[in-house]
Amino acid sequence: MTKKIAVFVGSLRKESFNRKMAGALMELAPKSLTFEMIEIGQLPLYNQDYDDEGTPPAEYSEFRQSVKPFDGVLFVTPEYNRSVPAVLKNALDVGSRPFGQSVWGGKPGAVVSVSPGAIGGFGANHHLRQSLVFLDIPIMAQPEAYIGGAAQLFDGEGKIANEGTRGFLVKFMETFAAWVEKNTAKNA
Ligand code: FNR
Repeated sequence: MTKKIAVFVGSLRKESFNRKMAGALMELAPKSLTFEMIEIGQLPLYNQDYDDEGTPPAEYSEFRQSVKPFDGVLFVTPEYNRSVPAVLKNALDVGSRPFGQSVWGGKPGAVVSVSPGAIGGFGANHHLRQSLVFLDIPIMAQPEAYIGGAAQLFDGEGKIANEGTRGFLVKFMETFAAWVEKNTAKNA
């Protein structure tokens, strides 16, 4: 059966390599997965007072409602100062509250990090995994995707220029589809 995947990009930059990567991943994925990119840049910084006082910003409520129906989650993120960009961490925090009403729990997920540097966003990838484990997202362990050399990754149309990387990403998404299938079956 088709599974619906919410895609989150940890960069707000117009020409973001990570946004391009998210587009490429959606295109290379098996047909058993459908995708929607969920925007996170509009979310005010998380402040627990809003929830405690019962007056969360409309952006929080809309975001939480929009994430709930998905079967799985895919995070595509740059590394900022060897960690997760604040905008993405903020989205995780907003979705995790009010206490006991997290939208994340049980949704199978995967992480791809992309950087122009050689380490491929390893630090961000693993800091993100730390939060995802706590949020009870069954996170795909293998294959790992630390994609370096981002400036050379894409052709003029935003497609993956390198055949080897393209093949790896096809495998990654096939494995993710199987991971989602296995873990949503467990939830059903
Ligand atoms: C960066 N960049 C970066 N790159 C990296 O590999 N490790 C890092 O720790 C950092 N730190 C960092 C901090 C901040 C505040 C910025 C703005 C950038 C560079 C980063 O990988 C590069 O700007 C990417 O192009 C960002 O991803 P998008 O926006 O292209 O998706």
